[in-house]
Amino acid sequence: MRQKTLLLTGASRGIGHATVRRFNAEGWRVITCSRQPFPEECPWGGGAENHVQLDLSDPSDTINAVGIIQERLGGELDALVNNAGISPKGPDGARLNTLDTDLMTWGKVFHVNFFSSVVLARGLKDELAAAKGSVVNVTSIAGSRVHPFAGAAYATSKAALAALTREMAHDFGPLGVRVNAIAPGEVETAILSPGTDKIVEKLPMQRLGQPEEVAAAIYFLCSQESSYISGSEIEVNGAQHV
Ligand SMILES: NC(=O)c1ccc[n+]([C@@H]2O[C@H](COP(=O)([O-])OP(=O)(O)OC[C@H]3O[C@@H](n4cnc5c(N)ncnc54)[C@H](OP(=O)(O)O)[C@@H]3O)[C@@H](O)[C@H]2O)c1
Repeated sequence: MRQKTLLLTGASRGIGHATVRRFNAEGWRVITCSRQPFPEECPWGGGAENHVQLDLSDPSDTINAVGIIQERLGGELDALVNNAGISPKGPDGARLNTLDTDLMTWGKVFHVNFFSSVVLARGLKDELAAAKGSVVNVTSIAGSRVHPFAGAAYATSKAALAALTREMAHDFGPLGVRVNAIAPGEVETAILSPGTDKIVEKLPMQRLGQPEEVAAAIYFLCSQESSYISGSEIEVNGAQHV
C-alpha cells in the first residue's frame, strides 16, 4: 500500500501538533509548515526533512513554498490541512474590534488565516487531484458570532475561510477532491485568552476541548470514513454553538 501524505500548516504547537502526531500514528507521512524550524525538543516522525519553514503572512514566501512542497511530494497529496492561524490582541490583551484594528494587522491576519489556504490549495490542485485527496480548513466558532476575545480581523478571516470551503468544495469536486472545515470552540492551546474559564463554565459540556479531539475530527475528514462529505463545516466545541 502507498503511504499517504498530509501537508499541514501550523504544526509546531496546539491543534497542529496534535494533528501531526495523530496522522503519524495512522502511518501517514506529514509535511509540516510553520515559521519555527523543526522542533528538536518535541520531534515528530517525519523528521526535519519533512518540514518547510515559511511565513504564511508573506504572500511571496507562501507562493514560493508551493514549488518546494511539490518537489517533496512527488506528484500526489492525500490531504491538505490549513490549520495555521493568528488572533492578534491590543494592549494588555484587549479585543481588537472593527473600530480599532489597523489595516496592516487586518491584512496580515487575512494572509495567514485565509489567503495562504487559497495559495496552497490552488498551487497543489494537481497533486490533490492525483490522490483524490481532501482539504480541511480550520475555521472557528468566532467566524459565525461575536466572540468576547477573538477580534474582528480574526472573526472575518474565519468567516471568509468558511465561505472559501463552500466555494472550493464546488470547484474541486469535479477533480475528485473533497473540501471541508472544522470549527473549534475553546480548545486548550496557546491561542486562548485569560478569562476563557468564564466561557467554559457556561458551555453545555463545561470543559475545554483538547487538541487531540480536534485532530480526531480532522483525521475523520481526511479518511475514507467521510468519503461522501464535502462542503461541510463540523463544529468541534462541546455544544458551544447551540
Ligand atoms: N485553540 C482554540 O481554542 C481555537 C479555537 C478556534 C479556532 N482555532 C484555530 O485552530 C488553528 C490552530 O490554533 P491553535 O490554538 O493550535 O493555535 P496556536 O497554538 O497558536 O498555533 C498556531 C500555529 O500556527 C502557526 N503560525 C502562526 N503564524 C504563522 C505564520 N505567519 N506562518 C506560518 N505558520 C504560522 C504557528 O507556528 P509558528 O509560530 O512556528 O509559525 C503554530 O503552529 C488556528 O487556525 C486557530 O484559529 C483554535
